[in-house]
Amino acid sequence: MADPSLRLDYANLLSAHTSGGVAPQRLGGELAERFRGAHAAVETRRASGDMGFFDLPYAADTIARVKELADGFGQWFHDVVVLGIGGSGLGALALRDALLGPYWNERTDEEREHFPRLHVVDNPDPETFRRLLHRLDPAKTLFNVVSKSGATAETMAQYLVARAWVDEGVGEDHARGHFLFTTDPGRGALRQIAEAEEIPALPVPENVGGRFSVLSPVGLLPAAVCGVDVDELLAGAAAMEARCRTAELGENPAGMLATLLHLADTEQRRPIHVLMPYVDRLRSFALWFQQLWAESLGKAQGLDGRRAHTGPTPLAAVGATDQHSMLQLFMEGPHDKVVLFVAVEDMGADVAIPSRHPGISSLGYLGGSSLGRLLDTERRATAEALRREGRPNATVVLARVDARALGEALMLFQIATVYAGALYGVDPLDQPGVELGKILTYGLMGREGYDVPELDPGDPRWVV
Ligand code: PA5
Repeated sequence: MADPSLRLDYANLLSAHTSGGVAPQRLGGELAERFRGAHAAVETRRASGDMGFFDLPYAADTIARVKELADGFGQWFHDVVVLGIGGSGLGALALRDALLGPYWNERTDEEREHFPRLHVVDNPDPETFRRLLHRLDPAKTLFNVVSKSGATAETMAQYLVARAWVDEGVGEDHARGHFLFTTDPGRGALRQIAEAEEIPALPVPENVGGRFSVLSPVGLLPAAVCGVDVDELLAGAAAMEARCRTAELGENPAGMLATLLHLADTEQRRPIHVLMPYVDRLRSFALWFQQLWAESLGKAQGLDGRRAHTGPTPLAAVGATDQHSMLQLFMEGPHDKVVLFVAVEDMGADVAIPSRHPGISSLGYLGGSSLGRLLDTERRATAEALRREGRPNATVVLARVDARALGEALMLFQIATVYAGALYGVDPLDQPGVELGKILTYGLMGREGYDVPELDPGDPRWVV
């Protein structure tokens, strides 16, 4: 097996290294035992067929179909627009930004090796949508509409707008060739339209929920259409899945991550979990993690049926940018955070910093160094500064930002999330808390079968 491209350095979460840390001897004792219980609970659910994301790297038929469609569409279309929100959009965004790199959509055709531009549109903000359509040529644009339920208001509304725009641009007879759906294999409006109009549709397996779907066609199609090596991505994910089969805490990186973050929240009152990569390419990855951790673990009810109102608050940050925004709070604010850095060992092509202005001594240390070295040095210095202040932190170290390492990282965080669900005693796969807002929206928008709700009218006395 290839060497792992990812390791977790958790020394700065332990009391041997920082005054706010956990006693290392607990790892060999009760925490190892606690994790064994969580691991067993996850294995039981997995065996019952509930946790399909574990098996996505091995879904050979679906992967072959994704690659076949991606090859065809990638050659024909200049722009691919993913319409999808939450777990149906964030994975594609994370893959695009990490693996295609900065300014993909601004690059020339030659620079993109003639792969299409990739737009991921989640919010139904009319200004964003209008301006995007204005920049596109309907004859050269593919819309990949991604909705597991096929019912999400934001995505379906965007689909209807896009469909009318393509109809007008290329004619109704040709419009369906500009759409590809990614949706539930058997249910929902998108599946119905796909069948009625023979629009190609890729499946989101029934046992894979939105925020665990990045390695299904939800993330794979947009990545593959732009030339990402999805085999490498999935090989990385498979390698991490294999590493996390063990119930031994000290050997299971997802187990260690989940155990220590859960403990930080529930015992040390550190419920804010910051993910802070030190490369721009992983900004969207941090947003993907934010949704995964929040929607999976923030729950009113425990698995035992009792009221729980539990869950950590994830926060996406990026270094070094947020050293000039949030670090002051992390260093001196309440002791309620754990910072999880992401370091990249080989950042790729570096940029040398020239030596200039010999008369200005304060610039001398920069000349002859490089931007990459500066960025990574800042990460190390920040971790050390937090450690000295008794602020626990850890570092996920990636060998590079490539498909293999990203596959490992995506699988690591997904597995850590379901372990954390077991440790918190909640179901990490559902999201009942978002339903009420949806039902009220449907009623207010006049959806058939939904009553118009009475909203609290407010009170002008309390408006300033
Ligand atoms: O993670 C989730 O399950 C959610 O964030 C969904 O992905 C999101 O609500 C979109 O749902 P759908 O794919 O059904 O449009």
